[in-house]
Amino acid sequence: MRVLGIETSCDETGIAIYDDQQGLLAHQLYSQVKLHADYGGVVPELASRDHVRKIVPLIKQALTDAQCTATQIDGVAFTQGPGLVGALLVGASVGRSLAYAWNIPAIGVHHMEGHLLAPMLEDNAPEFPFVALLVSGGHTMLVEVGGIGQYQILGESVDDAAGEAFDKTAKLLGLDYPGGPLLAKMAEQGTPGQFKFPRPMTDRPGLDFSFSGLKTFAANTIRDQDDSPQSKADIAYAFQEAVVDTLAIKCRRALEQTGLKRLVIAGGVSANTSLREKLEKATAKMGGKVFYPRLEFCTDNGAMIAFAGLQRLKAGQKTELSAKAKPRWSLDSLPAV
Ligand code: KG4
Ligand code: ZN
Repeated sequence: MRVLGIETSCDETGIAIYDDQQGLLAHQLYSQVKLHADYGGVVPELASRDHVRKIVPLIKQALTDAQCTATQIDGVAFTQGPGLVGALLVGASVGRSLAYAWNIPAIGVHHMEGHLLAPMLEDNAPEFPFVALLVSGGHTMLVEVGGIGQYQILGESVDDAAGEAFDKTAKLLGLDYPGGPLLAKMAEQGTPGQFKFPRPMTDRPGLDFSFSGLKTFAANTIRDQDDSPQSKADIAYAFQEAVVDTLAIKCRRALEQTGLKRLVIAGGVSANTSLREKLEKATAKMGGKVFYPRLEFCTDNGAMIAFAGLQRLKAGQKTELSAKAKPRWSLDSLPAV
């Protein structure tokens, strides 16, 4: 089976073709980062317009790269939610129009399921069951994964997502949008131990997160310092260390609670080197192993949507052509495969 995947939930147009025998045949990604940078964040209306502009040329290119004709595509997977509704509608409309024209099924994919399964695009794919830490710009959650569609949410952020906290703190440090990777780069120049940020919600039981206090703590720390590059780098270091530590404490707790040994990390923040290193050490100490996608599949992409969609289409699931885009959609409401 061969599936065309379409991701348009936020500010990346991602297109991919995945074949269950041959693996990933093509993937195309267009990032709108430059378009939104001037505004310090994603402008939904501009995002939708840019998806409209890019989506069909990228699909054509992916088909060419995969040396594949439309008649060889067996299904279309598109991100049905959660995300910006105008952006989702672009992928949903184009995806379902193609499915209708090509007379093949369409499947609406949950964006976070895409992230969660992205490590399975790699050669050393994790086996079920595992614990997944999903850390993106919009979500932070720990999920016990029994199989595809068997998701039990163990904990999630009660306020800002980890990526959102990175982006907001980066903005306070004068960095462009999206600031997460830029803050991580700045932190490389930071001196350990100059500042001590709190580790929110780690002193009580449970697996929920809260990151908005860290952003406020950063704002206060920045206000009380000179704005020399070294002070900024020290603050970036201490902030990142606090986020990474907090995530690691909760991951360890989730593995202990479930008795599982495999940890998957996915979503934009899983690209963070410091987080990867910390979690590798922490899981190794517990006799476990951490899995993550290659860097380009940590952030939004079409490959993860094609892959997730293929698993569901293969199981005979499909989405009606009249189904709605779902700007809000809980991960644990998905049907099992
Ligand atoms: O998964 P993603 O591409 O989009 C959403 O679904 O939200 O995640 C984007 C988020 C942004 O907040 C970005 O700043 C963050 O991931 N991010 C990082 C890094 N790379 C991306 N945060 C920290 N360190 C990084 N290296
Ligand atoms: Zn995402």
